[in-house]
Amino acid sequence: MSVFVVVGMQWGDEGKGKIIDLLTEQADVVARYQGGHNAGHTIIFDGNKYILHLIPSGIFRADKKCVIGNGVVIDPAALAEEMQMLKKLGFDYDGRLLISDRANIILPYHRISDQQKEGDSGSRKIGTTGRGIGPTYSDKIARVGLRTCDFIDASQLQETIKSNYEEKKKILKNLYGENLPDLCEIVDQMLAHREMFVKYVGNTQSFLRDQIAEGKKILCEGAQGTMLDVDHGTYPFVTSSNSTAGGACTGLGIPPGKITRAIGVIKAYTTRVGEGPFPTELHDGYGEQLRNDGAEFGSTTGRPRRCGWFDAVVGRYAVELNGIDKVTLTKVDVLDQLDTIHVCTGYRHNGKAVAGMPASLAVLEQCEPVYTEYPGWQQSTSGIRSFEKLPDNARRYVDSLQDHLGVEIPLVSTGPGREETIMRGELL
Ligand code: IMP
Repeated sequence: MSVFVVVGMQWGDEGKGKIIDLLTEQADVVARYQGGHNAGHTIIFDGNKYILHLIPSGIFRADKKCVIGNGVVIDPAALAEEMQMLKKLGFDYDGRLLISDRANIILPYHRISDQQKEGDSGSRKIGTTGRGIGPTYSDKIARVGLRTCDFIDASQLQETIKSNYEEKKKILKNLYGENLPDLCEIVDQMLAHREMFVKYVGNTQSFLRDQIAEGKKILCEGAQGTMLDVDHGTYPFVTSSNSTAGGACTGLGIPPGKITRAIGVIKAYTTRVGEGPFPTELHDGYGEQLRNDGAEFGSTTGRPRRCGWFDAVVGRYAVELNGIDKVTLTKVDVLDQLDTIHVCTGYRHNGKAVAGMPASLAVLEQCEPVYTEYPGWQQSTSGIRSFEKLPDNARRYVDSLQDHLGVEIPLVSTGPGREETIMRGELL
């Protein structure tokens, strides 16, 4: 029996898509446990690039089952679009795609509310993806959400939307002067995609537990990253779900004792999209170089990502919080041209060393990073597949990150393709 959780260790965009795609080869089931189509997982193989937002990337391998868990929030139009894209490309998912009957649905009023709140000068801008994620999770917690099981019976779907409609209409009108489409129009929009996905909806929670009992290997796929977790991240500049490893239990219905291992994914430098504190952010030519060489533009929104040095405080926090004992390091090749590289090994606040990750945003915003400097290697590592073939300074850099994190780094990625990978130890 083995259940692995793959979790991002920074603010998302660590390159989880590639790592999950690689690990999927050894799994039977890939299960996504939180988030929605705010995420974008990029996978490159056979010279083609694919971006998935909701469906686990395991769908590209014909013998794998893929689960969208109860912890995920689903926009039916976005899901239908992804399913159509897969069909068009010739990837068949019948009998392989399973959608939890308990996942909450993103409705038009969630999206409108997300976008309006972000545009409202009176409220604090989070820099969300504008996909309605936060308002949908708010309704889930407020116990007024629409769920996938409501799609099985069309009259139930209509009833649930109707019971919320008047309140949502008034709120949007009074707060933002926005007119919500007619109730019938919203119901029709929902029903338009019903046929496409309703046959895949079922009890994924018991399916997963049965698979575990049969000794199958389950890969639990987290979206976003540790620092965007609603409880443990840089609140309130976070997403609205638990992206950390614990989210796999609640978001899939897997008992905690069944989780075998948490595998972390971390980039050789740091990025974040949207607002919020980012202690090692670079506003100079190095930041620009990382953005350009790393193609650091959001795969969901296209927004330029903020770039900075590797932050070992964030990394250690992620290791401890998720119980990570193996780390995969991505995008080492992006550092190839730099003459010097910095790693943040601690924070100082008001001249004093800070222990751990501060909860207070005000404190974190004033923290000064303490850096250790490493010489660059200024030669290409792109596509290198053996650790010994890396330049000396690149090997030293990877080894020192391993020391800073205090856990093994058995996989180093030197490019976006499946084969552009160094395996120097066991991961699973
Ligand atoms: P939301 O998830 O759309 O509500 O956005 C909340 C915050 O999380 C914003 O700063 C987003 O930029 C960030 N975010 C959401 N999804 C991702 C992701 O997949 N990668 C990186 N950042 C993300």
